[in-house]
Amino acid sequence: MEPLKYPRHWVERKQNKKRISVITAYDGTMARLLDRTDIDALLVGDSLAMTVQGHSSTMPVTLDEMIYHCRIVKRSSSKFVIGDLPFGSVQISKELAVQSAVRLMKESGVDAVKLEGASPLTLEIVKHLTSIGVPVMGHLGFLPQSIRTFGGYRVQGKGGSDQLLLQARALQDSGAFSMVLELMAEESAGHITRVTSIPTIGIGSGTHTDGQVQVLHDVLGLDPDFLPRHAMKERDLWKDITEAVNSFNAKVKGV
Ligand code: KIV
Repeated sequence: MEPLKYPRHWVERKQNKKRISVITAYDGTMARLLDRTDIDALLVGDSLAMTVQGHSSTMPVTLDEMIYHCRIVKRSSSKFVIGDLPFGSVQISKELAVQSAVRLMKESGVDAVKLEGASPLTLEIVKHLTSIGVPVMGHLGFLPQSIRTFGGYRVQGKGGSDQLLLQARALQDSGAFSMVLELMAEESAGHITRVTSIPTIGIGSGTHTDGQVQVLHDVLGLDPDFLPRHAMKERDLWKDITEAVNSFNAKVKGV
């Protein structure tokens, strides 16, 4: 399959009914390993606040920290890399959002930026960014940066998808090349996928999306104490890592 190099390739995939796989990456070792896989694209998600920095939500990570991680991943991978715009780097004003997105792209070299929601201000920002050459991925459904408003991890669009559908169409019309649908009722995600022309990338939103995104740590099973319900875990690598390090420890101590 042709690699995803530019936003138009994402839309072509949807037109050709070919699914898209995305996984998070935050550091050079993993980005290099992921480069040997068939995964289509890497997301340097602000989830790194939780998986890497030890916070309990995505909110504390700063734009400078995102730029640092995006730069490392981009340097270590030939995949299409998307960088998340963190909380506080977008929501204040259009000017700030544009400055943040331009910094993220210019200083790290990512291929696209991702931002959450579809408020009138966000839509204006998406329109402006795409008009100046910054590809934008949207993010609808559960919005981790608004966890305080959502009041916890709750599935969105259970009682119908009218509002979410309007948001999805507005994002598409504003120029987004794709959108993440997070924790959305399966029927709502499926409906949005059918009636929009840009690919939907689901996480915890059922199987009727154009692709799926997962957090690398969840897929590999790196954290025995935290596994979201929607994780698509393939391994329990925390066990291998614990055994390997204990084996090294035993050799050092001759036990
Ligand atoms: O930050 C992140 O990793 C994300 C994915 C969960 C979509 O936004």
